[in-house]
Amino acid sequence: MKAKILALLRERKTYVSGQQLCEQFGVSRTAVWKAIEQLREDGHKIDAVPRKGYLLVEEPGTDLTREIYTQSEISSRMQTSWAGKKVYFYESIGSTNVQARQLAEEGASHGALIVTDMQTAGRGRRGRSWSSPAGINIYFTLLLRPGFHPSKASMLTLVMAHAVAEAIEEETGLTVGIKWPNDIVIQGKKVCGILTEMSVEQDDIRHVVIGAGINVRRQDFAPELAEKAVCLDEVCGRRVNRCRLLAAVMKAFERDYEAFEAAGSLEPLRASYDERLVNRGREVCVLDPAGEYRGVAKGITDMGELLVELSDGTVQKVFAGEVSVRGIYGYV
Ligand code: BTN
Repeated sequence: MKAKILALLRERKTYVSGQQLCEQFGVSRTAVWKAIEQLREDGHKIDAVPRKGYLLVEEPGTDLTREIYTQSEISSRMQTSWAGKKVYFYESIGSTNVQARQLAEEGASHGALIVTDMQTAGRGRRGRSWSSPAGINIYFTLLLRPGFHPSKASMLTLVMAHAVAEAIEEETGLTVGIKWPNDIVIQGKKVCGILTEMSVEQDDIRHVVIGAGINVRRQDFAPELAEKAVCLDEVCGRRVNRCRLLAAVMKAFERDYEAFEAAGSLEPLRASYDERLVNRGREVCVLDPAGEYRGVAKGITDMGELLVELSDGTVQKVFAGEVSVRGIYGYV
């Protein structure tokens, strides 16, 4: 209700009468008034003039000292049918991936989005932790209940990487790359990491959770990350609005997921993914448990494997679940 009122006031950009809001949402005057009061408590500036109604005075996020990051503000920005349609927002939580799995067990639906302002036990890939301080970054997990075979689930990570890249481009105008399979890279440095986890029962997916952490505000990265991590504000030269970016990610993901699901593969996204692939044409070191080797990355297959050409001209398909790659001169 709060989110719907907010979205409508933002769209209208003019005074909207209480009566109109009541009729639009089928609620009482008191309910509208209460929602307006709560929005004000959240920090929204809403002007109320007798016989004219309510006007959203200031767009949150444009004020440099203050950004409104709430469930209503995030929901009011959503332009999707199912991805992020239901938002679970927390000021602080252990890990959005863990919370998403818990909510999945309790019956949360396909497309539920779990967002927090900070994590106390953020998780990264390969058992690493993910530093998640308050007020400066985006930490979210999207819950999916796909109908396809579990063997296809690893491709969802690439779908999310592609969607995040598209959304950042749209919101900032920056050129965004993807380091296979799922790191988002700007100016050669990592701006977002993605962690996908799946629950399977026999041959069926019970649920998949895709978590992403996006560095937004300027911050002091841990010394081991300082050389290879970057935040959006720094490269963009202005403050990026976290709620708008989240909504843009959901919109891009919904579109990409539907294309992926209809094709049963990454074929519809492959060319676009390859265009952003920072490893393409570069020498990479494949960290295969059976033995490291080098080759030149060529692009991805429809199933999301990385094609790596070896010095003898043969081409290996590298599967993300088994190995990772790194550039031979550094992170990319
Ligand atoms: C990586 O190691 O690159 C993946 C990092 C994934 C971090 C995100 S933050 C939101 C979600 N919740 C977690 O605990 N991890 C992911």
